[in-house]
Amino acid sequence: MKMKPKVPTFLKWAGGKRRILNALQPLFPKKIERYFEPFLGGGSMFFYVMQKYRPSFATISDINADLVEVYKTVRDNPHELIKKLKGFKKKDSEEFYYRTRDLFNQKKLQGTERSAAFIYMNKTAYSGLFRVNSKNEFNVPYGRYKNAEVFDEETLSQASTLLQGVEIKCQDYRDILGEIQDEDFIYLDPCYDPIKKTSFVQYTPEKFSKSDRERLSRFVLSAQKRGAKVLLSNNNVSRVKRLYPGFYFHPINAPRSLGARVGAKSEVIELAIKNYASVV
Ligand SMILES: C[S@@+](CC[C@H](N)C(=O)[O-])C[C@H]1O[C@@H](n2cnc3c(N)ncnc32)[C@H](O)[C@@H]1O
Repeated sequence: MKMKPKVPTFLKWAGGKRRILNALQPLFPKKIERYFEPFLGGGSMFFYVMQKYRPSFATISDINADLVEVYKTVRDNPHELIKKLKGFKKKDSEEFYYRTRDLFNQKKLQGTERSAAFIYMNKTAYSGLFRVNSKNEFNVPYGRYKNAEVFDEETLSQASTLLQGVEIKCQDYRDILGEIQDEDFIYLDPCYDPIKKTSFVQYTPEKFSKSDRERLSRFVLSAQKRGAKVLLSNNNVSRVKRLYPGFYFHPINAPRSLGARVGAKSEVIELAIKNYASVV
């Protein structure tokens, strides 16, 4: 019997794909030699792809500089990170959280300490959100969870192993275009189009607007011209579909909980959009 890959995600991330990996997986190409994931977030797809397809080359990136530093720390310095996280976990309290948040926002925490603070706050913040205000300050309140897990040593070690040899960059998704070659596989999971005005779509100070949507589709079409296989996750709305003429559309049931009331869960239909036939 084939074992399912264990997906060592170590962050809670809005829009995380962990729970729909099974539904997305049949839509992947048969082989993946070179992999790009330029809206990385919590990275569940990346960890899945690394185990299942063992690409010889992978570049992961995100516009969130602190998030990118965390991945670099997990890749390059897992032991020191785990040591620091043990310290954070021991001291966890509402008061310690707000003190850490202040030091983080004042840029008084750097290097491995900053990455540990990021993971600690991600696991103890309300609803696991990463949200910043107009001054780019992380402003999520304390979550008051009983016994927040904060981290798991084995998960971080496994993530570190899978990140060896992987390029990790802080950049706009379009910056990968010059590197794209024939047959490369790109998985894109951008901030979604809001279904309703109140939907949570803001992960960074920049909003994902109509012009962002159009820019994204221009990028996808340019990557396609360079020979890439592209799989894009988005909301199942016609204004998105219109931007991808001739593409294949696959509705996917996706449970949602982040960004809603804690504990509140709902099913929404997402859309997987791709430019290649299913088994290739
Ligand atoms: C929906 S989340 C990705 C979730 C991820 N697939 C997961 O499983 O956790 C979108 C990510 O895109 C990043 N992002 C937003 N705008 C971006 C841009 N212009 N270029 C690159 N990354 C961007 C955000 O920081 C966020 O981490």
